[in-house]
Formats: sequence, C-alpha cells, structure tokens
Amino acid sequence: MNTRAAPRGDGTPSPARGPRRSRPVPGLAELGDGRISYSERMMPLLAALHDRFAAERPFAGLTVAACLHVTAETAVFVRALRAGGASVRLAASNPLSTQDDIAAALARDGVEVFAQAGVDRDTYYEHIALALGAAGRDGGPDRGDGAGDAADTGWSGAPDLVLDDGGDLVSTLHTMAPPAVLDRVRGGCEGTTTGVLRLRRMTADGTLAFPVIAASDTPVTRIVDNTHGTAQSVIDGLLRASGILLAGKAVVVAGFGPCGAGIAEAARALGAQVLITEVDPVRALDAVLRGFRVLPIAEAAPVGEVFITATGSAGVITADHLALMRDGAILANAGQFDVEIDVRALAALAVAVQTDVRPHADAYQLPDGRRLLLLAEGRVVNLVAADGHPPEVMDLAFGIEALALSWLAGNEEKLAPGVHRVPADIDAEAARLVLSALGARLDTLTSDQRSYLASWHLGS
Ligand code: NAI
Repeated sequence: MNTRAAPRGDGTPSPARGPRRSRPVPGLAELGDGRISYSERMMPLLAALHDRFAAERPFAGLTVAACLHVTAETAVFVRALRAGGASVRLAASNPLSTQDDIAAALARDGVEVFAQAGVDRDTYYEHIALALGAAGRDGGPDRGDGAGDAADTGWSGAPDLVLDDGGDLVSTLHTMAPPAVLDRVRGGCEGTTTGVLRLRRMTADGTLAFPVIAASDTPVTRIVDNTHGTAQSVIDGLLRASGILLAGKAVVVAGFGPCGAGIAEAARALGAQVLITEVDPVRALDAVLRGFRVLPIAEAAPVGEVFITATGSAGVITADHLALMRDGAILANAGQFDVEIDVRALAALAVAVQTDVRPHADAYQLPDGRRLLLLAEGRVVNLVAADGHPPEVMDLAFGIEALALSWLAGNEEKLAPGVHRVPADIDAEAARLVLSALGARLDTLTSDQRSYLASWHLGS
C-alpha cells in the first residue's frame, strides 16, 4: 500500500517530499528535550547502561545505523549508545510514527537524523539509505538540502553495527549496498517478530551477510513488550481513534500470539466479548482454555463490532470478509506492517471515503449503505493513534538491544551470519537491573535446593 500523509489537524506537519536530514526549527528541539527527560525518568535500565557505557566505551569509533520509531524512548536509547562512543545515524521505521520534536532534539545534539513525520514511501526508503551511508548527489553525505538521491550516487560510508525494527534497514542494505559496505557491517539487532521472520527468510536463501541478534525473541521481551506493552497501547490507540465504549462490544482479535493474547485479555478486562481467529492449533487451544471463543474469520466477520489484527501475516481481512461486516464495524491493525487488513480492497469497495472523521479514523461508505471505520490507515494503531509502548516497556526492549549490541561489538567473530538468540544471561541481567530499580527482591536457591534440582536420584 502507498503511504499517505498523517491526517492534518492533529499537530503533525504536512507531508514532506524528498530526503532530508532533520534541521533546527526554533523551539522544536526544546520541546523534544522536555519529552525525552519525562520518558528518561521511567527508563532505569537505560539510565544504568548509559553510565556503564560512558565508563566502558564499548562502541568507541563505531558507527551505528538505526531504523527505529523516532520517539522519546528511542532518543534515550540513542543517547546511551552515544555515551558508549557510538556515532548514530537514525532513520524512522514507520513514516507516520516520527515525532519531529524528538528528531530535532537528537539532530541538535549531533545525531544524524533522517526522519520527518508524514513522508511518502519513496522518501522513507531514501532516508533509510541515507542512514546506511548512501551519499548525497554531491558525493558526500547528504546535506539536508533535499537534493540527495541515495539510489543513484554511491555510498559515503558504511555502518559497523545496525539496529532494525521490522527489517526494512537490513533488506535495503542487502538490496542496495555494494559488497564493501556489507563487509564492514559486524552485525546488528532486530527488535520485532516480523523483522526476525524476514531475517530468517534471508538466512534460508543465503542472503544475510552478517549475524543479527533477535532482540524481540527473548522471554523477557515476549512478556513485557509483545504482551503487556502491545496490549495496553493498542487498546489506547483504538479508544483514542474511535472514542467508543469497549464494554459489551464484540471484539475480534486475529492471531493469538503474545501480542494478540495480550490484546484479547486487555479488551476482555474492559468488558468486551472477545472472539479469536487463529491458524495454529496450539495457540487456538491456549485461547479456548483461557475462555475465548475461537472461530474462522469468515464466521467472525458478520459478528464482530471491532476487529484487531495481530498476526504478522498478510491478507487476514479481505474483501470477502469486509462484505460480511456489520454497519459501523471498526478495523484496526496491531501487526508490524499495513498488510493485514486489505485496505486497497476496502477502498475499491467504497463509494465514498470520509477521512478524519476523528483523528486517525477514516469512514468508508459502501454501496449498500454500510459504513466501515478504518483506524490509522491499517498501520500499527498503537504507534499511529497513540504513543506506542510506554517508556517502561521500551526501557526493557531497548536495554536488551543495547546489551546485545555491546556484546556483539566485542564478539562478532564468534557468530556466523544468520539470526541468533539473545544470550540468556543478557536477558536475565536486564530483568535483574529493572527489578532492582523497581525495588523488587528475589529469593536465591539454597545449596540443598540447587543439589535437588541438579540431581535425578532424588524424588519424593
Ligand atoms: P507471533 O508470530 O508469535 O503470533 C502471531 C499469531 O498469529 C500466531 O499464533 C499465528 O498462528 C497467527 N496467525 C498467522 N496468520 C494468521 C491468520 N491469517 N489468521 C489468524 N491467525 C494467524 O507474533 P506476535 O509476537 O504475537 O506479533 C504479532 C505481530 O505484531 C507481528 O507482526 C509483530 O511484529 C507485531 N508486533 C507489534 C507490536 C506493536 O507495538 N504493535 C509490538 C510487537 C510485535
């Protein structure tokens, strides 16, 4: 789907054309500062890592190219990496999620930021290329004058490490970069389930040229980020964009992975009647045993009042399902990409579209008089219509990425190209640091308990 500009009237700027580096706008960076320090106070893990990195300098002399949502929490992450000696080049991982004041604050502090809210699809990819080191038209780094075109002018530099959030940066790198640029990359981290799936496909066909640590795939992130963070923020985005009362509504959640399960539980906690669609029998069984009704999407379509997709797959809600839906049905997506709800089919079915009936809500009028409401243009509703994950969640997610990246910076020769798990001690260390900041204290195993658990001789 082509990206569209963020709806106007909600404080976001008009769509921008042409790649550009974020430039100073009076007052904007200061606005960003205030929001970054507000989030920082809720991010104890990154605060501890900032101090550790400042002392140990694990990234001294290294360039990190990052493709992340440009939010206050990302800024706290970027500052921790810079404290460790990294030069950071940042592009947005979603054209609609960039917060321009945050971009301005980072750019003022010397981060090379290539991101602006509401850019079109081509510019989005050009920004990624520029963050990777593609040169501007003058052969040097793009100077922010809108003249650079990454696709046709070669490369001014290469990153040592990469950070990705959905796989667009790594796939762009492998599609565009010459071998010398790819050779220089020591490795990277991927922060989403969808990105990890793309990387596994790249590994399977022998394309992935360096090791990438799957930061989204740890026990801690699955619990904190995918389940709790997504659940709360998706419901937040749904309610902000639609303004509905959720209690009593029939809510269909497609996909019962960690994200879908969290969303389903959160919607139920607010009084919704939640229905689940799944393709995996184990996940479906889990849903049934937790008290949810599981049924095919074709049967859920005429029943649901709200639909939330969280599958990481494509074409989950199609024209056939749209044709069955009730008047007033609300459609929202929580999956990484805008491919879960067939927005093109919805547009083709509609006789009229009323955009921005509320911020981030478009009403599609169908020929038979029904009206379907699409939130956030089918993009990740929690990032477009709400603030994304709360700072506490991003603290853990980014803290694990920061620890994994610093480990990778010193150990890349130990890892073959391909997708790697976060070492278990890094996951546990992140959890311990956060628990300690929260004032929670753990028991420790006694030596008797340790021997019992280690032995097969002892039973009852
Ligand atoms: P997962 O892969 O563990 O779970 C997805 C579930 O959807 C699986 O159980 C799968 O069987 C099911 N599924 C696949 N195709 C389906 C279909 N056509 N109909 C019904 N069910 C289907 O992934 P996880 O961690 O739950 O993440 C889901 C998506 O959410 C991914 O795209 C991920 O990147 C994204 N995500 C979004 C976040 C956000 O803030 N909005 C945060 C974290 C992840």
